[in-house]
Order: sequence, then structure tokens, then C-alpha cells
Amino acid sequence: MKAGADMKIAGKTVCVFVLLTITKVTRTVGNNSVSATVGSSSVLTCPTRSNIAMVTWKISPKDGGPCTLGYRADQNKTDRTNCSSSMNWKDIPDRDPTLEIRQVGIAHEGNYTCEVVAPEGNFHETYHLTVLVPPRLTLYCDDHGNPVCKAAAGKPAAQISWVLESNSTRSEEGHDNGTVTVLRKFTAYSTNVSNATCIMSHPSGNQSKSIACHLSRTKSFFLYVFIILFFLSIITFMAVVYYFKPHSDRLCHKNKPPATAPTDSPQDDTMEVEPYTTYVQKENVIYNSVSDLTVGQNLPQGLLPAT
Ligand SMILES: *[C@@H]1O[C@H](CO)[C@@H](O)[C@H](O)[C@H]1NC(C)=O
Ligand SMILES: *[C@@H]1O[C@H](CO)[C@@H](O)[C@H](O)[C@H]1NC(C)=O
Ligand SMILES: *[C@@H]1O[C@H](CO)[C@@H](O)[C@H](O)[C@H]1NC(C)=O
Ligand SMILES: *[C@@H]1O[C@H](CO)[C@@H](O)[C@H](O)[C@H]1NC(C)=O
Ligand SMILES: *[C@@H]1O[C@H](CO)[C@@H](O)[C@H](O)[C@H]1NC(C)=O
Repeated sequence: MKAGADMKIAGKTVCVFVLLTITKVTRTVGNNSVSATVGSSSVLTCPTRSNIAMVTWKISPKDGGPCTLGYRADQNKTDRTNCSSSMNWKDIPDRDPTLEIRQVGIAHEGNYTCEVVAPEGNFHETYHLTVLVPPRLTLYCDDHGNPVCKAAAGKPAAQISWVLESNSTRSEEGHDNGTVTVLRKFTAYSTNVSNATCIMSHPSGNQSKSIACHLSRTKSFFLYVFIILFFLSIITFMAVVYYFKPHSDRLCHKNKPPATAPTDSPQDDTMEVEPYTTYVQKENVIYNSVSDLTVGQNLPQGLLPAT
């Protein structure tokens, strides 16, 4: 009797060990927590017995309704209610009642309970599945030339830090799907630090990247030069406008009468000339300068225009 019980225990531990090795899911001691990376496949094992009468997987996801997968040995029949097609038996359930989740998504997070009815009794195993989303690590230099480390859309939030940091500020932004973006900005950054290295720790894997932001000085130099040139050109433009404005005004006023007294008939022209007003105006200026000249010649010496 005792030997049989021992063997049973030994068999059970071996079985659990084998299943854990096969599934490659991380199992926290004291709590059936398993985690899977989004997009991967995950398998959840069930206590196997010979001569299983019935197996049921009861799945209650965090969001959405529950679903079940069942198998009855006497009828050699499986059934499913509400379970998405991504969840299925890994093998023929009378051989292996392991559940397989293909293309794990955040919506799959929740509790998974396997219930086995066997001649030896009923067994059940519950898992809490956590879905990990690996954050995207990016580094960039902000407008002031400070390095910024960004771990975007990770689940759970990533831990990021700068190597040899003197001072940095952290900010966090949560997203609707449960992922978190974390930013860490290196402040008090001296430009003679050649490289700043950011380390990201995350259950889905650690990562590090480096960046050099020594361009900040030349960048701001070019910015200042650009701003100065911009203002100089505006001042020049305004000076030109001011210089020419009184002249054109005077010319226009002086030359209006000769322009409006042409030799050709005005009735015919008004309709056709309308779209070409600018053209006509230019013509008038030339006319005007010509008439200016002629007027000037006819004027007495003292009234001669300055031009
Ligand atoms: C999963 O089980 C835990 C306790 O084991 C419970 O606190 C939690 O609410 C359950 N979650 C769902 C989605 O049923
Ligand atoms: C149960 O049915 C499957 C096919 O649906 C078959 O492959 C398997 O051998 C059957 N098992 C038993 C014990 O009859
Ligand atoms: C299946 O889902 C529908 C709607 O989501 C729900 O009303 C129903 O109770 C579910 N069935 C089972 C067996 O959980
Ligand atoms: C930056 O360079 C100067 C001289 O080149 C040095 O005195 C200073 O300690 C350096 N700062 C850092 C943080 O390395
Ligand atoms: C990631 O780094 C942390 C410490 O920052 C360490 O505890 C953990 O084991 C590392 N994980 C991996 C997968 O290397």
C-alpha cells in the first residue's frame, strides 16, 4: 500500500515537472501564476490520470464572459461554449487534457481552472494567466539636448534607469489596453558625457541602449543664426518697403489724370481690361513716367521734380 502511494506521489511530481518543462511557462511558487508574452503560444497543463472520465476547462477572462471546454470519455466527445478558436485542446483530451492558447492576447488574461473526474477522485488546478507586452525601448535627445529613455506600451510598466545617472525625472502614461509607457529624462546632463546608457528591466526581457546628445550646442548655434538671419531679412524687407512706398504713392497720384484720359474709347475696353488690371497698372506707371518727363520739360525750372 505504502509503496503504491509513494509511487503515486513520485509519479505526480515527475508528471508536474515534465509538464512544466514542456509548457515553458513561468510558475511562481505558492501561486499558480503563469505569464505569457503577447503573440506567443501558451499551454496550461491539467493533472493527468489514467482512465479520465471527464475533463473541463473553465476559463474566466478579466474582460468578457466565461467560456468552457469539456470532454467526456464515455462518449469520446468534446464540446465548447463561448471559447474563441484560439483556445483548444493541445492533443486528443483522453490522452492529454492540456489546454493550448495560440496567439496570446491581452484579452486572454484571467483565471483558468482545469477539473478532472477520474476513478481516483476529482482533481483541479487553477492558473492565473498574466499577459506580458514587451515595451519598445527608444532613446532620443530632447530640444534641450537631454537624453530621454522611453519604454513604450509595456505590460507591466518597465523599469528604466540611466547608467551613471546624476539626475533624472520619470513620467508614466497608461493606455486603454492596460499597457504603460514610461519616460525617463536625463537632466543635469553635461555635454562631455560621450554616451548615456539606458537599461530597461522587464519580465519579458532586459534590454539596454546608448545615445550621445553632444549635438545640442551646434544645434542651438544654428538655431540662433537662423533666427538672426530671419529677423535681418524682415528688417531689410521692411526698409525696402518703406523706401519705395512714398515714391509709388506720389507717382500714382500725380499720374492718375493722364492715365484716365486715354485716346482710345473707354466703353470697349472696360469689360475686356477688367481681368488684366495689374497689367494695366504697370502700363500706367510707364505711361506716367513718360508723361512725368514731358510734364517736367514743360514746367518752369523751380517746379521741376526732384527725381
Ligand atoms: C481569479 O482568481 C482570483 C483568486 O484566485 C480572484 O481574486 C480574481 O478575481 C479572479 N479573476 C477573475 C477574472 O475571475
Ligand atoms: C476518440 O475520438 C477520436 C477522434 O475523434 C479518436 O482519434 C480516438 O481514438 C477516440 N478515442 C477513443 C478512446 O475511442
Ligand atoms: C456565452 O456568452 C454569452 C454572451 O457573451 C452569455 O450570455 C452566455 O451566458 C455565455 N454562455 C456560457 C455557457 O458561459
Ligand atoms: C567635462 O570636461 C571638463 C573638462 O574637459 C571636466 O573638467 C569635467 O569634469 C567634465 N565633466 C564630466 C561630467 O565628465
Ligand atoms: C533583468 O534585470 C533584473 C535586474 O534589473 C534581473 O533581476 C532579472 O533577472 C533580469 N532578467 C533577465 C531576463 O535577464
